[in-house]
Amino acid sequence: MDAEELLGVGRSADVYALDDAWVLRRYRGGGDAAAEAVVMAYLAEHGYPVPKLRPLSAAGDLASTRSDLVMERLSGPSMREALWQGGITGKAAGVMLAALLRRLHAIPARLSGDVDQRVLHLDLHPDNVMLTPGGPMVIDWGNVEEGPPGLDWAMSALILAQVAVTPGVEASVARAGLTAMLERRDRTVDLGDAGTGFLAQARLRRAADPNLTSREVGVLDRAVELVVEVTGVGRG
Ligand SMILES: Nc1ncnc2c1ncn2[C@@H]1O[C@H](COP(=O)(O)OP(=O)(O)O)[C@@H](O)[C@H]1O
Ligand SMILES: [Mg+2]
Repeated sequence: MDAEELLGVGRSADVYALDDAWVLRRYRGGGDAAAEAVVMAYLAEHGYPVPKLRPLSAAGDLASTRSDLVMERLSGPSMREALWQGGITGKAAGVMLAALLRRLHAIPARLSGDVDQRVLHLDLHPDNVMLTPGGPMVIDWGNVEEGPPGLDWAMSALILAQVAVTPGVEASVARAGLTAMLERRDRTVDLGDAGTGFLAQARLRRAADPNLTSREVGVLDRAVELVVEVTGVGRG
């Protein structure tokens, strides 16, 4: 393992290049990757852009624990890196995120028989999209659940809004992304407001996320206000 190249470090996992074709994703805290692997395989079967998985039972595989996942090695920057480098605009990122959410929610739920339930990513933001030559691919399925699509929209919106209300170089791009993304949501999706509905649920989930810094938790209320403001524009 020591000889493997560390390709990426996220908040919960480290990703190592095994060779030109495969990477190993390993939860630092020993989290369980088995459930997300099943969902990733299901989504790939439905044509959704997720990295292909290598079966963990493959002979000689380094991945031997449940916190490991071996998947296709993707090339290209993350959407966040591309934004940072000026390779894409905030608006283009928002358009892409909206398309990825809509495409995901067009796939029937894997487990639920409830027609209103779908597979939700619940952490779909520019760090978790890689812009490969074949198009955007969605990574980091650790939060995956089935539920109402509005919750997924609210989570993505709140994450962008947290960046947008935090002073810094990424703020204005995040705001442009948020606006463009929400403009393209399905209008039957009502995000609610600070007190009720999907936005309020998303706020609770973000506040309870142990990976968030106190600064990030500190801007949640302003981020909720911004999402309400953006969704309110053009309403009625
Ligand atoms: N299939 C992949 N191919 C190449 N790099 C990857 C791949 N999956 C993840 N990475 C890199 O590893 C980083 C962390 O992966 P991610 O799944 O987002 O972990 P975390 O849950 O810790 O955020 C990503 O931001 C990306 O740079
Ligand atoms: Mg990530």
